[in-house]
Amino acid sequence: MAKIIDGKAISTQIKEETKEKISKLAEEGVEVTLAVIQVGADPASSVYVRNKKKACEYVGIRSLSYELPEETTQDALLELIEELNGRADVNGILVQLPLPKHMNEDMVIENIDPKKDVDGFHPQNVGNLSIGRKGFISCTPYGIIQLLKRSNIEIEGKECVIVGRSNIVGKPMAMLLLRENGTVTVTHSRTKDLKEVCRRADILVAAIGKPKFITSEYVKEGAVVIDVGINRNSDNKLCGDVDYEDVFDKVSAITPVPGGVGPMTIAMLMNNCLESITIKQNKNEV
Ligand code: GUN
Repeated sequence: MAKIIDGKAISTQIKEETKEKISKLAEEGVEVTLAVIQVGADPASSVYVRNKKKACEYVGIRSLSYELPEETTQDALLELIEELNGRADVNGILVQLPLPKHMNEDMVIENIDPKKDVDGFHPQNVGNLSIGRKGFISCTPYGIIQLLKRSNIEIEGKECVIVGRSNIVGKPMAMLLLRENGTVTVTHSRTKDLKEVCRRADILVAAIGKPKFITSEYVKEGAVVIDVGINRNSDNKLCGDVDYEDVFDKVSAITPVPGGVGPMTIAMLMNNCLESITIKQNKNEV
């Protein structure tokens, strides 16, 4: 019988832990503040931003909201980031992606102070992760490590296969699994014999953005399957990158969609906002 990894419960646990630490900081007179910037009104982004602000409120983080019109110039956005970088009362800065087409996302991210980059997207934080130094870690892959650890799933020595090589999930996931002493393979659209490579996995992470792409043919008996996908099927129902019903009887553990990886991203963002305090106090090596 497959174990269903309950991301909702684990994310609540992490938020509760964060809330408690934030309240201790408040007693010492330390307030944690996250600035959230959204440019334009992409409906999916608006939902994410609303949920992030709600989570801030729940754990006791002050959130500052910047909702800029679609036609905002990149220079105006960079000016705002510059101002927030310089504000001692702002600990974290989050620019919701995607940005409008006339902006260069890489350049915008590079202008966020790495010590306030709670998304872990700045090249300095990405570099720190890849050479094993401390720094902010991208929330979704960081959340997946927490899901595995808190479900008592061992990573050390395991064959870990990641499907997808994005900067936000696939690549940092590889670095984190490696850090936990997994044996890591990153696959992508040009990988030959993808099914065969996936069937080697003790831990299979699907982050491709294709609904129900991973069927039982891709999965080894007893594997742990982590589904990062959030897609809509033809009936407009949420589904992952994994064909859950098809693989369920073959796996030892699996994350559902919704209620698996999704809630972890925001919980880890709250955790990163909390960590921004230690980083600010130079207790960290960023
Ligand atoms: N867009 C989709 N996911 C994310 C995320 O984790 N952070 C930001 N900033 N934008 C996103």
